[in-house]
Amino acid sequence: MILGIYVLRSRTFMQKSKGHSIVRITDIKFLDEIVTLHLNAFRSVLSGQTGKHFLKCYYKNILKKGFVFVKITDGRLSGFIAGIEDDDLLYNIKYYFWAGFGIFTHIWSPALIRSLFRHIKRQRAFRDITIKPELLSIAVRDDMRGKGIGTSLVDALEKYFTEKHVQVYKVYTDMQYSKGSQLYEKLGFEFLREVDLFGLPFRLYVRNLNYK
Ligand SMILES: CC(C)(COP(=O)(O)OP(=O)(O)OC[C@H]1O[C@@H](n2cnc3c(N)ncnc32)[C@H](O)[C@@H]1OP(=O)(O)O)[C@@H](O)C(=O)NCCC(=O)NCCS
Repeated sequence: MILGIYVLRSRTFMQKSKGHSIVRITDIKFLDEIVTLHLNAFRSVLSGQTGKHFLKCYYKNILKKGFVFVKITDGRLSGFIAGIEDDDLLYNIKYYFWAGFGIFTHIWSPALIRSLFRHIKRQRAFRDITIKPELLSIAVRDDMRGKGIGTSLVDALEKYFTEKHVQVYKVYTDMQYSKGSQLYEKLGFEFLREVDLFGLPFRLYVRNLNYK
């Protein structure tokens, strides 16, 4: 009996501690690790090709205007998710300055030029979308994938959005370099639109938190 209670309590503790290891951060303690993980996970798209300065500015702004949840394992970042309630808040003067700086300093790269054209086409293709809350980025370290961390990070984001009375949010993902679509489809996101960005299939998914 006592053993049974002990097993039950330690299981509860393990479940709790698993959930609790995903935390929201508001300071820049893990900024360098987030930027490194982003560069590694998104090296084939524009945001991963414009350098560290842009990304540092980008995530600092998200820490202020949006939110970042992280999964820490043994003191190291193993994954993060970033989101915002109103995506218009991302685009300030610093954003454009560092994006311009990043593009200018990497302009010799044919991959960046291609990504730039894709980005412009993407902006035009989705300009009618009025949903403001957005899952901006999610990435899990290579060696930590497939363990449910991505799912837990999405859960944390959705709990936050629910507390803020957000009912619908969006997420964009490409179908070639990213595994985002597999994750979102597994979790039951609704596929809204696919656009061809000069050979790169690119999708918009939405999630209605009322129908989860
Ligand atoms: C997408 C990503 C965040 C998933 O993180 P993760 O911790 O591995 O995800 P989970 O372990 O919670 O997987 C949940 C489900 O997603 C799907 N999935 C995740 N990675 C997959 C892969 N490489 N291939 C196929 N399906 C995959 C599976 O359906 C999986 O469920 P299952 O394990 O029961 O089959 C991670 O692969 C990653 O960081 N990729 C690089 C960055 C990226 O693509 N981000 C999304 C762009 S918007």
